Amino acid sequence: MKQLLLIGIGPGDPRQVTYEAVEALRRATVFFVLDKGTDTGELVQLRKAILERYLPQARYRLVQVADPRRDGEAPDYVAAVQQWHAQRASLYARLIDDELGEGDVGAFLLWGDPGLYDSTLRIIEQVREHGIALALEVIPGISSIQALAARHQIPLNRIGEPLTVLPGRRLNEQATLDNVVVMLDGRCAFATLDDPGLVIYWGAYLGTADELLVSGPLLEVRERILALREAARRRKGWIMDTYLLRREA
Ligand SMILES: C[S@@+](CC[C@H](N)C(=O)[O-])C[C@H]1O[C@@H](n2cnc3c(N)ncnc32)[C@H](O)[C@@H]1O
Repeated sequence: MKQLLLIGIGPGDPRQVTYEAVEALRRATVFFVLDKGTDTGELVQLRKAILERYLPQARYRLVQVADPRRDGEAPDYVAAVQQWHAQRASLYARLIDDELGEGDVGAFLLWGDPGLYDSTLRIIEQVREHGIALALEVIPGISSIQALAARHQIPLNRIGEPLTVLPGRRLNEQATLDNVVVMLDGRCAFATLDDPGLVIYWGAYLGTADELLVSGPLLEVRERILALREAARRRKGWIMDTYLLRREA
């Protein structure tokens, strides 16, 4: 049976790698690094920095491969994602089969927490359907949501209120906007809201040297966020940002 670790590594700051994750890093002998393309090469470098920091002896093998690309323009979002996952599952199955020998422990370093908007667990299920028997361990990580709350020094929810987490493309379907965390919002859905009661807590590149934070009444700060976001995205070639919206009590 192949041994595989899915290790949550936090949102970018090597100090936000948990001790359980460090122990798991030390057990791994082969790290799979999926490169999503030149724009996000920096994310590969951040993963390598974590390995260099916690495994200075470098007694491991790094297997770096190009991640299949998702068709971002496909009209049917769910079908496009499913097709992309199937391609990734074939790739992961091949990697695990070819690269993990007897006594090896493979590991994927997953951004933030493996359970939050990360498809690796679903893909691993498909890898098993390819006939590969896996002894799997999942190590939780600090999510970008936790980093956002800590940096802004806010609780995510008010007393007794629910907390909703959704992707940007679903924000406009949300009837109530109390304690809504938005992730994966490449189209800046917050900029389409005109409710004067809303407050936003926004963070980009949380935990990295380029971290950006803005908070305040949405209508007062949204132009500033849009300008900062666009300038940073142009300068770095990629951006990861998340935000909390809520109505002033
Ligand atoms: C594919 S999801 C992965 C989420 C990750 N599993 C987590 O626990 O944070 C990627 C989204 O997470 C958010 N994100 C991840 N890392 C971030 C960071 N360092 N700063 C701000 N947002 C981040 C962004 O909304 C981004 O679009």
